[in-house]
Amino acid sequence: MEIKGKAGVITGGSSGIGRATAERLAKEGAAIVVADLDEAGGAETVKHIESAGGRAVFVKADVTKLEDARRMLDTAVSKFGRLDILHNNAGIGVGAPGFPDAPPERWHLVIEIDLQAVILGTGLAAPLMQKNGGGVIINTASMAGLYPHRQDAVYGAAKGGVVNFTHSLASWSAERKIRVNCICPGIVDTPLVRRGLELAQQHGIKSWMPSKIIQPEEIADAVVTLVRDDSLFGCSLEVRPTGRQIVDPRPAPGSRR
Ligand SMILES: NC(=O)c1ccc[n+]([C@@H]2O[C@H](COP(=O)([O-])OP(=O)(O)OC[C@H]3O[C@@H](n4cnc5c(N)ncnc54)[C@H](O)[C@@H]3O)[C@@H](O)[C@H]2O)c1
Repeated sequence: MEIKGKAGVITGGSSGIGRATAERLAKEGAAIVVADLDEAGGAETVKHIESAGGRAVFVKADVTKLEDARRMLDTAVSKFGRLDILHNNAGIGVGAPGFPDAPPERWHLVIEIDLQAVILGTGLAAPLMQKNGGGVIINTASMAGLYPHRQDAVYGAAKGGVVNFTHSLASWSAERKIRVNCICPGIVDTPLVRRGLELAQQHGIKSWMPSKIIQPEEIADAVVTLVRDDSLFGCSLEVRPTGRQIVDPRPAPGSRR
């Protein structure tokens, strides 16, 4: 898809990967709705975009709430006339203490934000995108969704759900011309990771930052690839410090899988 002239919603756009993606898509010519709970961070993202000559607006939204999710998507239509791109990116981990010592409310919240909100956003965005003949949805999963993640099993379960949800939508994507893919980063240098390290240290859990760490701008670049490449739907894009790899589990044409 050509990015110039399109409109997108980025959840978790006030920080880290979401901010980098919002800024990059705006630089490529898309108008951006930055959706997040963090108003100060969202204002900062909008300021960066506008001072670089782009168009953006902030919407305070909790991605787990139906009305908020509707409002952030409707804002793309009311402010920019269309919705073409949705990056379901807001996310959290259980943190320390981990499972099962953290209160059950915390595990539930991880599943709600990291998995249920992705399903909600995808379902609500589809009819709006179809008004312009289709669109692109990119879900932020994680390498933790492709491989066992012993540091945070609940986070791994949520992200594994996002990967399977995305892969399972392959034929749905093709029928509706809404390409749904997910991105599976390794460790990215963001506030989420730095907070997690601090918390682990406070709880006496051994943890460290790897020597080679991915920058949020590299994930934004991978998101742009998924937006542009019309051949990709129902796939994951793994991003490691050493490079990228497409995971393409699409069934062969005619297969009953
Ligand atoms: N940083 C990494 O190493 C890494 C690796 C793989 C995947 N991810 C995923 O990337 C995504 C972005 O993470 P990040 O590292 O940029 O973290 P981050 O903490 O920098 O940004 C996450 C943003 O999500 C927002 N958010 C949280 N709950 C929300 C809610 N209910 N409604 C709306 N916004 C909400 C936060 O306010 C924050 O601005 C997450 O889904 C995370 O799981 C991160």
